[in-house]
Amino acid sequence: MARLKTAVLISGRGSNLQALAASCAAPGFPAEIALVISNQANAAGLEHAAKAGIPAKVVPHRDFKTREEFETALDKILRAAGIELVCLAGFMRVLTSHFVDAWRGKLINIHPSLLPDFPGLDTHRRALEAHKRVAGCSVHFVIADVDAGPLIVQAVVPVLPGDDEAKLAARVLEAEHQAYPLALRLIAERRVRLAGNRVEIDGKPGPLRLDPAA
Ligand code: GRF
Repeated sequence: MARLKTAVLISGRGSNLQALAASCAAPGFPAEIALVISNQANAAGLEHAAKAGIPAKVVPHRDFKTREEFETALDKILRAAGIELVCLAGFMRVLTSHFVDAWRGKLINIHPSLLPDFPGLDTHRRALEAHKRVAGCSVHFVIADVDAGPLIVQAVVPVLPGDDEAKLAARVLEAEHQAYPLALRLIAERRVRLAGNRVEIDGKPGPLRLDPAA
């Protein structure tokens, strides 16, 4: 079967891009990263794309007068490349319904919390302040409401005594690098179905939960 043509949108470090690219490079993986787009010319992730031989484009949002014009430019590039799935990986621009509705069911994001807990920024600080015993990450379909779409995969990690923001972030990031490739694989294998605002995986209610303690 043809591999799912995937684009990854980044703004910075690109460690999730690296994890996705590494998985796609494994023999038999059902998706390929056909394109990387960054809205930041200096994103470190662009170097990973270059090293992995993945075509990359910089589309600076500041070159456009409105969000819609920026999104139209993204859309054109993605369609011209025959992209079937878009993965947001640390892409720091909010996408409006203009773009999100056009890519509904084909646009996913990873967020560093167990949604619906802690949408938005500073997730690890907020998890520590709330004295959570577990933290984690969520891969979800994107809808116009930020960090609110149907959940596909969640990975759980413990919050340990002595954790600070950096320690917890590092533990969650490791989990992200498991969860995102898994979600990509499940979608590429056509095992994920969007049923209204829920996800079904292999016909069962999602999200799939990676929980070492379970
Ligand atoms: C990750 O924590 C991701 O969950 C969030 O932004 C961060 C991106 O990290 N959306 P990287 O650029 O993939 O290393």
